[in-house]
Amino acid sequence: MTQDSYVNLPIRPHPEYSTIVPPLKPEEYETLSDSIRRNNGNWDAVVVNKEGFILDGNHRYKICNELGIEPNYEVKEFNSALEEKLFVIDSNLARRQLTDYARTELILLKKQTYLDLGKKNMSEAGKAGVAIRDSNNIADNEEGFINIDKAFDTRTDSGYAADEQISINTINTQKELADEAGVSTGFLYEVEYLTKHATQEQKQELREGKAKSHSIFRDIRQQEKLGILDKKIEQGTALNDLEMASSLNISIRPYDVWNYSEIDERFGQRYPGNIPAGIVVNTLVFFTEPGDLVLDPMAGGGVVGDVCRRFGRKCLMYDINPVREDIIKHDLKQGIPKGAKNADFVFWDPPYYKIKEQEYGPQSISALPKSEYMKVFEDAAECFAENGIKKIALLMPDYYGKNPDENIFIDEYIAQFKKYGEWRILRRVHCPLATQQITAYTIATRLKTKTLSWLARDLIIFERVNEYYNESEMPRTGALAL
Ligand SMILES: C[S@@+](CC[C@H](N)C(=O)[O-])C[C@H]1O[C@@H](n2cnc3c(N)ncnc32)[C@H](O)[C@@H]1O
Repeated sequence: MTQDSYVNLPIRPHPEYSTIVPPLKPEEYETLSDSIRRNNGNWDAVVVNKEGFILDGNHRYKICNELGIEPNYEVKEFNSALEEKLFVIDSNLARRQLTDYARTELILLKKQTYLDLGKKNMSEAGKAGVAIRDSNNIADNEEGFINIDKAFDTRTDSGYAADEQISINTINTQKELADEAGVSTGFLYEVEYLTKHATQEQKQELREGKAKSHSIFRDIRQQEKLGILDKKIEQGTALNDLEMASSLNISIRPYDVWNYSEIDERFGQRYPGNIPAGIVVNTLVFFTEPGDLVLDPMAGGGVVGDVCRRFGRKCLMYDINPVREDIIKHDLKQGIPKGAKNADFVFWDPPYYKIKEQEYGPQSISALPKSEYMKVFEDAAECFAENGIKKIALLMPDYYGKNPDENIFIDEYIAQFKKYGEWRILRRVHCPLATQQITAYTIATRLKTKTLSWLARDLIIFERVNEYYNESEMPRTGALAL
């Protein structure tokens, strides 16, 4: 490496190297700007190469320009572009507080650059007559101007192309790399994965510490898995229910408490009152068969439809406020829509009376007086029976109004079905709401007033009383035939 005192081109940020420089937080930028102003630019030199590209000091250069001060320059020259790049990486690693993500990303890039350098040297030795293996892979990198986000493109899922894996293991184990970055090997693996799969925006947020790497890693992995599953579905490679649930990481619970509290982003569009997909998955597994036609008359964000698609059930979705193209506008007060009359199974997740009246709007059953709201359930019981529906799953909590006359208990909904006479309960599964909805404020208020909040919610599975079974067929009571 030699140094020179002149630069023959205008000073400017390097298009690739500037992506390596993690951004300063506004307060860090302000502090640096203050210091440079106080010292009238007499600050660490901006390091440039002979082409005028900044190698170290992008922020100093920008601040000096803003302040109208001429910065100090130092010109550095390297034997190769890759060595120059290593200098840029090291300068960034040596400086100030970096987020764990930014530091780990730089360590990985440094390692990759060393590998490229090694290959380049071997290739040159090869050209000089020494027998070495083919080194085509490095052709793209010879200039050394590798975008930080492209630098990982040649890697496989496990991080590196197979032959590189061998070299990297001999040079540095994942453990050593993690130690150098001051992170765990698990974190290192996640960062490696993210450098390859995350979007530019996601990476930028991670470098700035605005996002958590694990949650982005988890989301991308889940999306990837879903993509693989969708491909299998398209190719007709059917998984059975248990295999599908396991691929989706959704537990199947062969007992009558299903406490799934979290909304699963993989299913449905976000919508007030979304149901956790785990409840729908278990319902389909225990109470329907592959190929069944499921009706969701109040589909909201479409969670039921999305789960049905993955589990090989057909689904017809309706809602008074359809939010997606596959949800058809229909008011259940008018009865079952014609197209859904041959459904095998109904998954019914109605508004919990007034709880989200504002969100669902004036046409919603939430806006009805209590007697009319309850009549919707009685009419639906009749309508579902008349249309040959065999089973209905109704998800409902107790409702507590402002005064006790407004209360509606789960048993009252059941009574509406029994009133019609065609339905009996097959199973009752407790699906409690998330404890997270009980805030510290709620607890304090409830303790003060000595009143109970509510978490209870049940999934009632009705079957038609006259639903016949073959002599040989055991009635399904929700026990999975394994
Ligand atoms: C609890 S949300 C359903 C949420 C849905 N299961 C999901 O996971 O996204 C209840 C739904 O009932 C719909 N709804 C209310 N009154 C209706 C009516 N009269 N006819 C059809 N849908 C109605 C609301 O628009 C709302 O989407």
